[in-house]
Amino acid sequence: MEFNPAELSQQDRYKLMIGAIVPRPIAFVSTCDAQGRANIAPFSFFAGVGSNPMTLLFCPANTPEGTEKDTLRNCKLAADGGLGEFVVNTVSAAYARQMAACAEPLAFGESEFAFAGLTTAASAVVRPPRLAEARVSFECRTLQVVRTNPGQPGGGNIVIGEVVHVHAGDGVVNERLHVDPAALDAIGRMGGMAYCTTRDRFEMPMGKAALATPGR
Ligand SMILES: Cc1cc2nc3c(=O)[nH]c(=O)nc-3n(C[C@H](O)[C@H](O)[C@H](O)COP(=O)(O)O)c2cc1C
Repeated sequence: MEFNPAELSQQDRYKLMIGAIVPRPIAFVSTCDAQGRANIAPFSFFAGVGSNPMTLLFCPANTPEGTEKDTLRNCKLAADGGLGEFVVNTVSAAYARQMAACAEPLAFGESEFAFAGLTTAASAVVRPPRLAEARVSFECRTLQVVRTNPGQPGGGNIVIGEVVHVHAGDGVVNERLHVDPAALDAIGRMGGMAYCTTRDRFEMPMGKAALATPGR
């Protein structure tokens, strides 16, 4: 089958993306507004960018009305009316349901933390709180927001942030800075309402050595 995105509805383009770009890690992004009111929401259009400086990105799309989601309103650059800061918290299986509950569209200023029964903890460097339950939290300053279709429903926004502080729970990272995947117990998002765990893992070398290794 061949598809021309220009001939598909926005909903069908979205379905192809979320079904085929899998598994996706989930950034559970905490922000706050100028009054310090906290917000947290999951975003699976999420990736690392580089390690010098340490940067990552996530993509809060425009709402069906073409407006900005609360997370973007809060974390966009100060010159654009935001606070310019956010925290990316990892998502473990233990609080998967609370994470999904935070996709509820609450009124601006109403906290998903309280709504879902999650706990805030003070961040070390930025104003938005981190998620106390998170095994790893990346405190970020917004470097840039790239908008692919401002004001239009489903238009994308890429928020690029520089990580200015990392918090890891006890037993998650060893002295060589290796993250224990079992302790992290991350979940990922698949198509539709489906998720996956990271409990089935395998190892292999890179490059030509990968071909010489028996296994999968
Ligand atoms: C697992 C999961 C992943 C999601 N990923 C995205 C995403 O990448 N981009 C997006 O715009 N919305 C995504 N959503 C929907 C947002 O979380 C939802 O619109 C939320 O209400 C936004 O909150 P806010 O208005 O407080 O920013 C996702 C929802 C779930 C449950």
